[in-house]
Amino acid sequence: MMAADETEEMRSLELSGQVGFNSLPHQVVRKLVAQGFCFNILCVGETGIGKSTLINTLFNTTFETEEADHYEQQVKLHSQTYELQEHTVKLKLTIVHTAGFGDQINKEESCNPILNYIEAQFEKYLEEELKIKRSLFNYDDTRIHVCLYFIAPTGHTLKSLDLVTMKKLDSKVNIIPVIAKADIMSKSDLGNLKKKIMNELQSYGVQLYQFPTEDEEVGEINSSLNARLPFAVVGSTEDVKIGNRMVKARSYPWGSVQVENEEHCDFVHLREMLLRVNMDDLREQTHFRHYELYRRCKLEEMGFKDTDPDSQSFSLQEMYEAKRKEFLKELQHREESMRQMFVNKVKETEAELKEKEKELHERFEQLKRMHQEEKRNLEEKRRELEEEMNAFNRRKVAAETLMGQALQGCSHQPLKKEKDKKNFFSLPSACSLTSGRNLN
Ligand code: GTP
Ligand code: MG
Repeated sequence: MMAADETEEMRSLELSGQVGFNSLPHQVVRKLVAQGFCFNILCVGETGIGKSTLINTLFNTTFETEEADHYEQQVKLHSQTYELQEHTVKLKLTIVHTAGFGDQINKEESCNPILNYIEAQFEKYLEEELKIKRSLFNYDDTRIHVCLYFIAPTGHTLKSLDLVTMKKLDSKVNIIPVIAKADIMSKSDLGNLKKKIMNELQSYGVQLYQFPTEDEEVGEINSSLNARLPFAVVGSTEDVKIGNRMVKARSYPWGSVQVENEEHCDFVHLREMLLRVNMDDLREQTHFRHYELYRRCKLEEMGFKDTDPDSQSFSLQEMYEAKRKEFLKELQHREESMRQMFVNKVKETEAELKEKEKELHERFEQLKRMHQEEKRNLEEKRRELEEEMNAFNRRKVAAETLMGQALQGCSHQPLKKEKDKKNFFSLPSACSLTSGRNLN
């Protein structure tokens, strides 16, 4: 077999008749049409700036959206998916709105939820790509294809929040800036504002989506569209009768602003560029530029690389081994620090226990002393009681003796019996012997 670099220059051959492979583009188109397309739009802009109205105007329908209030603690993103069909082409359209953007007093964190959302969609796609069983063909792609950035028509130029947000988003998503509610500005003010915005974006190094100009078919129209950035747009879903035609317009006491009139605003240019000319390019740029960058950074972060420092060919096996070793080392390190932490904790607990033991010992000694004191007191009391009991017993014996003698005397002198009995019971010693207080 011939090696690739030895291959002769390719020769062109004429076919003698039609063979049929010229139908390949039609086969591709048929398959794609049957499968349907998806397109995901992110609308970033202050509350009430006209995001929902513009999207409704762009797609000539009414998407159900709720009005946001101005009291959100932080920026929240709401996504809603719709299935649309235009002739035979089916489109799965996802619209993501930012609620509460620019409403907080401290706006430092305003763009983080937006960044996180965009990256989370890339992460989901990367996870699918890295699966062993992938289903990328019918993958539900939620990556943001375009970010319509709504600029308020009220300032002299961009607000710092707009600049910072666009700068942070420009490497993650295709940004198309639009000046919202352009009907409230005069033509000359609008022209000046456009120039100032573009100068500021340029000096701040913000990369906007550039409509591709290399393509012969759309190069010319895209060049003119690039020059019109940022698009000054007006949105309205109201049909107004102008002459004998019904057109989308905003009516004022002094006249009407027609949404699709090029003299009145850039709405038709935005629709032309977004839906009719560059929709596929926006999808491609998302995949090949923004997602590719995210994927590369993520894989590098995880330790993957295409070539080693000596530019030898990349080996997945070697890289896996290196990563495994690194992981084991990290694991050992963590184990060691956990063991050290455990030892320290044990030491601390030991010291605490010793302290407690000492306290308990002191308490025990104190109680022991109190107990001995108590015991001594009780002994003293017992001794006193015993002495009292002895005295009582002695008196009792004496009383009994006296009573015996008295009874003997009575048997000899019966007449004196009653008198002696009285005398005996009136003896003070007898009274005191029977009193409860002395017994106790
Ligand atoms: P939230 O989703 O609540 O943040 O608002 P939003 O940005 O989606 O704005 P929405 O489209 O709900 O419009 C808010 C108000 O602005 C409505 O009263 C619209 O009629 C009005 N509005 C929308 N577009 C335009 C416009 O181009 N010009 C003018 N003058 N008013 C507009
Ligand atoms: Mg809205």
